[in-house]
Amino acid sequence: MASLETVLKNNVNLADYGPGLVAVFVGGTSGIGEVTARALVRDTVSPRVYLVGRNEKQASKIIEELRQVNPNGQINFVHCDAARLKSVDEACKTIQDKEDKVNLLFMTAGILTTKGPDETDEGLDKKISLHYYSRMRFLTNLVPQLTKAGLATEASSTATQPGLYRNLSRVVSVLEAGGEAPLILDDLSLKKNYSLRNCAKHAITMTSLSMEHLSSMYPTTSFVHAYPGVVKTGLMRDFGAITRTAMSALFVLARPWMVPLDESGERHLYAATSPRFPPRASKDVERAAPGSDGTKGSGAYLLHWDGSDNGNKKPLQELRKNDTGKLVWEHTLGVFESICGKSTTP
Ligand SMILES: NC(=O)c1ccc[n+]([C@@H]2O[C@H](COP(=O)([O-])OP(=O)(O)OC[C@H]3O[C@@H](n4cnc5c(N)ncnc54)[C@H](OP(=O)(O)O)[C@@H]3O)[C@@H](O)[C@H]2O)c1
Repeated sequence: MASLETVLKNNVNLADYGPGLVAVFVGGTSGIGEVTARALVRDTVSPRVYLVGRNEKQASKIIEELRQVNPNGQINFVHCDAARLKSVDEACKTIQDKEDKVNLLFMTAGILTTKGPDETDEGLDKKISLHYYSRMRFLTNLVPQLTKAGLATEASSTATQPGLYRNLSRVVSVLEAGGEAPLILDDLSLKKNYSLRNCAKHAITMTSLSMEHLSSMYPTTSFVHAYPGVVKTGLMRDFGAITRTAMSALFVLARPWMVPLDESGERHLYAATSPRFPPRASKDVERAAPGSDGTKGSGAYLLHWDGSDNGNKKPLQELRKNDTGKLVWEHTLGVFESICGKSTTP
Protein backbone atom coordinates (compact mmCIF):
# COMPACT_ATOMS: atom_id res chain seq x y z
CA MET A 1 0.00 0.00 0.00
CA ALA A 2 1.16 3.53 -0.71
CA SER A 3 0.25 6.00 2.05
CA LEU A 4 -1.38 9.24 0.92
CA GLU A 5 1.79 10.99 2.13
CA THR A 6 3.93 8.87 -0.24
CA VAL A 7 1.52 9.55 -3.08
CA LEU A 8 1.55 13.31 -2.57
CA LYS A 9 5.35 13.35 -2.21
CA ASN A 10 5.66 11.61 -5.59
CA ASN A 11 3.22 14.01 -7.21
CA VAL A 12 4.75 17.27 -5.99
CA ASN A 13 8.09 16.14 -7.45
CA LEU A 14 6.85 15.51 -10.98
CA ALA A 15 8.72 18.56 -12.23
CA ASP A 16 11.75 16.18 -12.07
CA TYR A 17 10.49 14.63 -15.30
CA GLY A 18 11.34 17.88 -17.01
CA PRO A 19 9.17 19.97 -19.34
CA GLY A 20 6.90 18.75 -22.12
CA LEU A 21 5.35 15.49 -20.84
CA VAL A 22 2.66 14.35 -23.28
CA ALA A 23 -0.39 12.72 -21.69
CA VAL A 24 -3.53 11.37 -23.36
CA PHE A 25 -6.61 10.97 -21.14
CA VAL A 26 -9.25 8.83 -22.83
CA GLY A 27 -12.22 9.69 -20.60
CA GLY A 28 -10.64 12.91 -19.35
CA THR A 29 -13.90 14.87 -19.39
CA SER A 30 -15.30 13.43 -16.15
CA GLY A 31 -14.59 11.50 -12.97
CA ILE A 32 -11.28 9.74 -12.38
CA GLY A 33 -9.79 10.72 -15.75
CA GLU A 34 -10.64 14.38 -15.20
CA VAL A 35 -9.25 14.62 -11.65
CA THR A 36 -6.07 12.77 -12.64
CA ALA A 37 -5.57 15.10 -15.62
CA ARG A 38 -6.10 18.11 -13.34
CA ALA A 39 -3.48 16.82 -10.87
CA LEU A 40 -0.99 16.13 -13.67
CA VAL A 41 -1.38 19.60 -15.18
CA ARG A 42 -0.95 21.17 -11.72
CA ASP A 43 2.27 19.24 -10.94
CA THR A 44 4.19 19.08 -14.25
CA VAL A 45 6.15 21.62 -16.27
CA SER A 46 4.63 22.71 -19.61
CA PRO A 47 2.66 19.48 -20.13
CA ARG A 48 0.81 18.76 -23.37
CA VAL A 49 -2.46 17.06 -22.51
CA TYR A 50 -5.20 15.58 -24.72
CA LEU A 51 -8.66 15.09 -23.20
CA VAL A 52 -10.47 12.52 -25.35
CA GLY A 53 -14.25 12.17 -25.05
CA ARG A 54 -17.59 13.32 -26.46
CA ASN A 55 -18.59 16.17 -24.17
CA GLU A 56 -16.99 19.25 -25.71
CA LYS A 57 -18.77 21.68 -23.38
CA GLN A 58 -17.40 19.97 -20.30
CA ALA A 59 -13.94 19.73 -21.90
CA SER A 60 -13.92 23.48 -22.63
CA LYS A 61 -14.75 24.22 -18.99
CA ILE A 62 -11.93 21.96 -17.74
CA ILE A 63 -9.46 23.44 -20.25
CA GLU A 64 -10.35 26.99 -19.21
CA GLU A 65 -9.76 26.13 -15.54
CA LEU A 66 -6.52 24.29 -16.25
CA ARG A 67 -5.16 27.30 -18.15
CA GLN A 68 -5.38 29.24 -14.86
CA VAL A 69 -3.69 26.41 -12.95
CA ASN A 70 -0.74 26.04 -15.35
CA PRO A 71 -0.54 28.78 -18.01
CA ASN A 72 2.37 26.97 -19.69
CA GLY A 73 0.39 23.79 -20.23
CA GLN A 74 -1.23 23.01 -23.59
CA ILE A 75 -4.55 21.27 -23.06
CA ASN A 76 -6.53 20.07 -26.09
CA PHE A 77 -9.86 18.35 -26.57
CA VAL A 78 -10.15 15.49 -29.07
CA HIS A 79 -13.72 14.56 -29.89
CA CYS A 80 -14.22 10.79 -30.11
CA ASP A 81 -16.98 8.26 -29.61
CA ALA A 82 -14.51 5.74 -28.26
CA ALA A 83 -16.94 2.81 -28.49
CA ARG A 84 -16.22 2.86 -32.27
CA LEU A 85 -12.76 1.61 -33.23
CA LYS A 86 -12.69 3.68 -36.42
CA SER A 87 -13.32 6.82 -34.33
CA VAL A 88 -10.45 5.73 -32.08
CA ASP A 89 -8.21 5.60 -35.16
CA GLU A 90 -9.21 9.15 -36.13
CA ALA A 91 -8.56 10.45 -32.59
CA CYS A 92 -5.13 8.79 -32.55
CA LYS A 93 -4.31 10.29 -35.94
CA THR A 94 -5.18 13.77 -34.59
CA ILE A 95 -2.77 13.23 -31.70
CA GLN A 96 -0.05 11.66 -33.88
CA ASP A 97 -0.15 14.62 -36.25
CA LYS A 98 0.97 16.78 -33.33
CA GLU A 99 3.14 14.49 -31.21
CA ASP A 100 6.00 12.12 -31.99
CA LYS A 101 6.07 10.75 -28.41
CA VAL A 102 3.44 9.99 -25.80
CA ASN A 103 4.56 9.55 -22.19
CA LEU A 104 1.24 8.56 -20.68
CA LEU A 105 -1.88 6.92 -22.07
CA PHE A 106 -4.48 7.01 -19.27
CA MET A 107 -7.80 5.32 -20.03
CA THR A 108 -11.06 5.55 -18.08
CA ALA A 109 -13.74 5.86 -20.78
CA GLY A 110 -16.55 3.62 -19.65
CA ILE A 111 -20.22 3.24 -18.83
CA LEU A 112 -22.34 1.74 -16.08
CA THR A 113 -25.37 0.24 -17.74
CA THR A 114 -28.07 -2.35 -17.24
CA LYS A 115 -28.58 -2.66 -21.00
CA GLY A 116 -26.86 -5.16 -23.19
CA PRO A 117 -25.83 -6.30 -25.61
CA ASP A 118 -26.00 -2.84 -27.17
CA GLU A 119 -23.97 -2.97 -30.37
CA THR A 120 -22.32 -0.14 -32.28
CA ASP A 121 -22.53 -0.06 -36.09
CA GLU A 122 -19.21 -1.96 -36.00
CA GLY A 123 -20.88 -4.90 -34.25
CA LEU A 124 -19.18 -4.67 -30.83
CA ASP A 125 -21.18 -4.25 -27.64
CA LYS A 126 -20.56 -0.68 -26.38
CA LYS A 127 -19.59 -1.68 -22.85
CA ILE A 128 -17.07 -4.36 -23.78
CA SER A 129 -15.71 -2.09 -26.49
CA LEU A 130 -15.22 0.90 -24.16
CA HIS A 131 -13.76 -1.18 -21.36
CA TYR A 132 -11.48 -3.39 -23.44
CA TYR A 133 -11.27 -3.28 -27.27
CA SER A 134 -11.27 0.49 -27.67
CA ARG A 135 -8.63 0.92 -24.95
CA MET A 136 -6.41 -1.71 -26.61
CA ARG A 137 -6.92 0.03 -29.96
CA PHE A 138 -5.68 3.34 -28.49
CA LEU A 139 -2.73 1.42 -27.09
CA THR A 140 -1.74 -0.35 -30.32
CA ASN A 141 -2.16 2.83 -32.35
CA LEU A 142 -0.01 4.87 -29.97
CA VAL A 143 2.66 2.19 -29.44
CA PRO A 144 5.23 3.95 -31.69
CA GLN A 145 4.87 7.19 -29.71
CA LEU A 146 4.92 5.35 -26.36
CA THR A 147 8.00 3.41 -27.44
CA LYS A 148 9.75 6.59 -28.45
CA ALA A 149 9.07 8.05 -24.99
CA GLY A 150 10.29 4.80 -23.40
CA LEU A 151 13.57 4.75 -25.34
CA ALA A 152 14.20 8.29 -24.16
CA THR A 153 13.56 6.99 -20.63
CA GLU A 154 16.31 4.40 -20.91
CA ALA A 155 18.78 6.87 -22.34
CA SER A 156 18.16 9.55 -19.77
CA SER A 157 17.99 7.17 -16.82
CA THR A 158 21.59 6.15 -17.47
CA ALA A 159 22.60 9.75 -18.06
CA THR A 160 21.17 11.02 -14.77
CA GLN A 161 20.81 9.48 -11.32
CA PRO A 162 19.88 5.78 -11.49
CA GLY A 163 16.16 5.38 -11.22
CA LEU A 164 15.28 8.97 -11.94
CA TYR A 165 13.12 8.69 -15.02
CA ARG A 166 13.32 12.03 -16.72
CA ASN A 167 10.88 10.68 -19.26
CA LEU A 168 8.05 8.29 -18.87
CA SER A 169 6.31 5.65 -20.99
CA ARG A 170 3.22 4.21 -19.31
CA VAL A 171 -0.25 2.92 -20.10
CA VAL A 172 -2.90 2.93 -17.37
CA SER A 173 -6.34 1.35 -17.74
CA VAL A 174 -8.71 2.02 -14.84
CA LEU A 175 -11.20 -0.83 -14.58
CA GLU A 176 -11.10 -3.57 -11.95
CA ALA A 177 -7.79 -5.30 -11.41
CA GLY A 178 -8.49 -8.11 -8.95
CA GLY A 179 -11.75 -9.11 -10.67
CA GLU A 180 -10.06 -11.59 -13.04
CA ALA A 181 -12.00 -14.81 -13.67
CA PRO A 182 -12.01 -17.81 -16.05
CA LEU A 183 -12.79 -16.90 -19.67
CA ILE A 184 -15.11 -18.41 -22.27
CA LEU A 185 -12.21 -19.06 -24.62
CA ASP A 186 -14.23 -19.87 -27.74
CA ASP A 187 -16.35 -16.73 -27.38
CA LEU A 188 -14.05 -14.00 -26.07
CA SER A 189 -16.12 -11.16 -27.52
CA LEU A 190 -19.30 -12.73 -26.08
CA LYS A 191 -21.31 -12.96 -29.29
CA LYS A 192 -23.15 -16.03 -27.91
CA ASN A 193 -22.68 -15.69 -24.14
CA TYR A 194 -23.40 -12.02 -23.44
CA SER A 195 -24.41 -11.00 -19.94
CA LEU A 196 -23.35 -7.94 -17.97
CA ARG A 197 -21.42 -10.21 -15.60
CA ASN A 198 -19.58 -12.00 -18.41
CA CYS A 199 -18.91 -8.64 -20.04
CA ALA A 200 -17.25 -7.33 -16.85
CA LYS A 201 -15.27 -10.55 -16.34
CA HIS A 202 -14.01 -10.68 -19.92
CA ALA A 203 -13.05 -6.98 -20.11
CA ILE A 204 -11.18 -7.18 -16.77
CA THR A 205 -9.41 -10.50 -17.40
CA MET A 206 -8.48 -9.73 -21.00
CA THR A 207 -7.02 -6.38 -19.84
CA SER A 208 -4.79 -8.06 -17.24
CA LEU A 209 -3.65 -10.81 -19.61
CA SER A 210 -3.03 -8.47 -22.54
CA MET A 211 -1.00 -6.09 -20.40
CA GLU A 212 1.18 -8.96 -19.21
CA HIS A 213 1.68 -10.07 -22.82
CA LEU A 214 2.40 -6.53 -24.02
CA SER A 215 4.95 -5.87 -21.28
CA SER A 216 7.19 -8.46 -23.01
CA MET A 217 6.49 -7.13 -26.50
CA TYR A 218 7.17 -3.51 -25.49
CA PRO A 219 9.72 -3.70 -22.67
CA THR A 220 10.36 0.05 -22.51
CA THR A 221 6.72 0.85 -21.66
CA SER A 222 5.02 -0.10 -18.39
CA PHE A 223 1.41 -1.25 -18.18
CA VAL A 224 -0.92 -0.69 -15.21
CA HIS A 225 -4.42 -2.06 -14.72
CA ALA A 226 -5.96 -0.32 -11.69
CA TYR A 227 -9.06 -0.79 -9.56
CA PRO A 228 -10.16 2.63 -8.22
CA GLY A 229 -12.33 1.43 -5.29
CA VAL A 230 -15.74 3.09 -4.98
CA VAL A 231 -15.51 6.69 -6.16
CA LYS A 232 -18.45 9.08 -6.61
CA THR A 233 -18.22 10.24 -10.22
CA GLY A 234 -20.52 10.79 -13.18
CA LEU A 235 -20.70 7.04 -13.85
CA MET A 236 -24.44 6.88 -13.06
CA ARG A 237 -25.38 9.63 -15.52
CA ASP A 238 -27.14 7.24 -17.91
CA PHE A 239 -29.44 5.81 -15.21
CA GLY A 240 -32.99 7.04 -14.67
CA ALA A 241 -33.85 9.35 -11.74
CA ILE A 242 -35.16 6.53 -9.51
CA THR A 243 -32.06 4.37 -9.90
CA ARG A 244 -29.80 7.40 -9.38
CA THR A 245 -31.62 8.25 -6.13
CA ALA A 246 -31.32 4.63 -4.92
CA MET A 247 -27.61 4.57 -5.83
CA SER A 248 -27.04 7.91 -4.07
CA ALA A 249 -28.55 6.40 -0.90
CA LEU A 250 -26.17 3.46 -1.24
CA PHE A 251 -23.27 5.88 -1.63
CA VAL A 252 -24.25 7.52 1.69
CA LEU A 253 -24.11 4.10 3.41
CA ALA A 254 -20.83 3.22 1.67
CA ARG A 255 -19.17 6.56 2.50
CA PRO A 256 -16.74 5.12 5.08
CA TRP A 257 -15.30 2.81 2.39
CA MET A 258 -15.34 5.26 -0.46
CA VAL A 259 -12.29 6.96 -1.96
CA PRO A 260 -12.84 10.75 -2.19
CA LEU A 261 -12.67 11.92 -5.81
CA ASP A 262 -9.68 14.24 -5.30
CA GLU A 263 -7.74 11.53 -3.45
CA SER A 264 -8.52 9.16 -6.32
CA GLY A 265 -6.97 11.68 -8.73
CA GLU A 266 -3.80 11.88 -6.62
CA ARG A 267 -3.59 8.10 -6.31
CA HIS A 268 -4.06 7.56 -10.04
CA LEU A 269 -1.43 10.19 -10.80
CA TYR A 270 0.89 8.19 -8.55
CA ALA A 271 0.01 4.97 -10.46
CA ALA A 272 0.69 6.86 -13.69
CA THR A 273 4.08 8.28 -12.72
CA SER A 274 5.71 6.56 -9.75
CA PRO A 275 9.07 4.83 -10.41
CA ARG A 276 7.65 1.87 -8.42
CA PHE A 277 6.03 0.69 -11.66
CA PRO A 278 8.90 0.68 -14.16
CA PRO A 279 8.92 -0.97 -17.58
CA ARG A 280 10.36 -4.48 -17.92
CA ALA A 281 13.60 -3.22 -19.49
CA SER A 282 14.36 -0.96 -16.54
CA LYS A 283 17.45 -1.77 -14.53
CA ASP A 284 16.01 -0.06 -11.47
CA VAL A 285 14.16 -3.09 -10.01
CA GLU A 286 15.33 -2.60 -6.43
CA ARG A 287 12.42 -0.36 -5.46
CA ALA A 288 9.99 -1.72 -8.07
CA ALA A 289 6.61 -3.15 -7.07
CA PRO A 290 5.76 -6.80 -7.76
CA GLY A 291 4.34 -7.22 -11.24
CA SER A 292 1.22 -9.20 -12.15
CA ASP A 293 3.23 -12.45 -12.30
CA GLY A 294 4.87 -11.77 -8.92
CA THR A 295 8.22 -10.71 -10.43
CA LYS A 296 9.48 -7.34 -9.21
CA GLY A 297 9.54 -4.78 -12.00
CA SER A 298 7.93 -7.13 -14.58
CA GLY A 299 6.46 -4.17 -16.47
CA ALA A 300 2.77 -5.14 -15.96
CA TYR A 301 1.07 -4.22 -12.68
CA LEU A 302 -2.37 -4.96 -11.21
CA LEU A 303 -3.19 -2.34 -8.61
CA HIS A 304 -5.74 -1.96 -5.84
CA TRP A 305 -7.14 1.53 -5.10
CA ASP A 306 -4.30 2.16 -2.61
CA GLY A 307 -1.48 1.17 -4.96
CA SER A 308 -0.99 -2.33 -3.53
CA ASP A 309 -0.77 -5.46 -5.68
CA ASN A 310 -4.29 -6.72 -6.48
CA GLY A 311 -4.38 -9.48 -9.10
CA ASN A 312 -6.77 -12.41 -8.62
CA LYS A 313 -3.92 -14.92 -8.64
CA LYS A 314 -5.73 -18.26 -8.97
CA PRO A 315 -7.58 -17.72 -12.27
CA LEU A 316 -4.59 -15.85 -13.68
CA GLN A 317 -2.25 -18.76 -12.87
CA GLU A 318 -4.61 -21.21 -14.61
CA LEU A 319 -4.92 -18.97 -17.67
CA ARG A 320 -1.13 -18.50 -17.90
CA LYS A 321 -0.59 -22.27 -18.09
CA ASN A 322 -2.14 -22.31 -21.56
CA ASP A 323 -0.52 -19.09 -22.74
CA THR A 324 -3.97 -17.51 -22.80
CA GLY A 325 -2.44 -14.00 -22.89
CA LYS A 326 -1.13 -14.72 -26.40
CA LEU A 327 -4.47 -16.19 -27.45
CA VAL A 328 -6.34 -13.14 -26.11
CA TRP A 329 -3.97 -10.77 -27.90
CA GLU A 330 -4.30 -12.64 -31.22
CA HIS A 331 -8.09 -12.55 -30.82
CA THR A 332 -7.91 -8.79 -30.12
CA LEU A 333 -5.84 -8.13 -33.24
CA GLY A 334 -8.32 -10.29 -35.21
CA VAL A 335 -11.23 -8.12 -34.03
CA PHE A 336 -9.27 -4.99 -35.00
CA GLU A 337 -8.57 -6.39 -38.46
CA SER A 338 -12.20 -7.41 -39.03
CA ILE A 339 -13.40 -3.86 -38.21
CA CYS A 340 -10.55 -1.58 -39.31
CA GLY A 341 -8.69 -3.67 -41.87
CA LYS A 342 -5.09 -4.82 -41.77
CA SER A 343 -2.81 -2.61 -39.73
CA THR A 344 0.91 -2.03 -39.96
CA THR A 345 1.29 -1.81 -36.16
CA PRO A 346 1.71 -5.19 -34.40
N1 LIG B 1 -16.27 5.24 -10.04
C1 LIG B 1 -16.18 4.04 -9.52
O1 LIG B 1 -16.56 3.80 -8.36
C2 LIG B 1 -15.59 2.92 -10.30
C3 LIG B 1 -15.45 1.66 -9.68
C4 LIG B 1 -14.89 0.62 -10.42
C5 LIG B 1 -14.49 0.82 -11.73
N2 LIG B 1 -14.66 2.05 -12.30
C6 LIG B 1 -14.23 2.22 -13.70
O2 LIG B 1 -13.42 3.36 -13.80
C7 LIG B 1 -13.58 3.95 -15.10
C8 LIG B 1 -13.77 5.45 -14.95
O3 LIG B 1 -15.00 5.70 -14.33
P1 LIG B 1 -15.43 7.10 -13.72
O4 LIG B 1 -16.01 6.74 -12.40
O5 LIG B 1 -14.37 8.09 -13.83
O6 LIG B 1 -16.65 7.45 -14.72
P2 LIG B 1 -17.21 8.81 -15.35
O7 LIG B 1 -17.11 9.95 -14.40
O8 LIG B 1 -18.57 8.46 -15.84
O9 LIG B 1 -16.23 9.06 -16.59
C9 LIG B 1 -16.33 8.23 -17.70
C10 LIG B 1 -15.66 8.91 -18.88
O10 LIG B 1 -15.88 8.03 -19.99
C11 LIG B 1 -16.16 8.82 -21.12
N3 LIG B 1 -16.99 8.06 -22.06
C12 LIG B 1 -18.09 7.33 -21.82
N4 LIG B 1 -18.58 6.83 -22.97
C13 LIG B 1 -17.74 7.28 -23.96
C14 LIG B 1 -17.70 7.11 -25.37
N5 LIG B 1 -18.63 6.39 -26.03
N6 LIG B 1 -16.69 7.71 -26.06
C15 LIG B 1 -15.75 8.45 -25.42
N7 LIG B 1 -15.73 8.64 -24.09
C16 LIG B 1 -16.72 8.06 -23.38
C17 LIG B 1 -16.91 10.04 -20.58
O11 LIG B 1 -16.66 11.14 -21.46
P3 LIG B 1 -17.77 11.84 -22.41
O12 LIG B 1 -19.00 11.98 -21.62
O13 LIG B 1 -17.10 13.15 -22.78
O14 LIG B 1 -17.89 10.98 -23.61
C18 LIG B 1 -16.21 10.26 -19.25
O15 LIG B 1 -15.15 11.16 -19.41
C19 LIG B 1 -14.73 3.22 -15.76
O16 LIG B 1 -14.23 2.28 -16.68
C20 LIG B 1 -15.40 2.49 -14.62
O17 LIG B 1 -16.00 1.30 -15.04
C21 LIG B 1 -15.19 3.12 -11.63
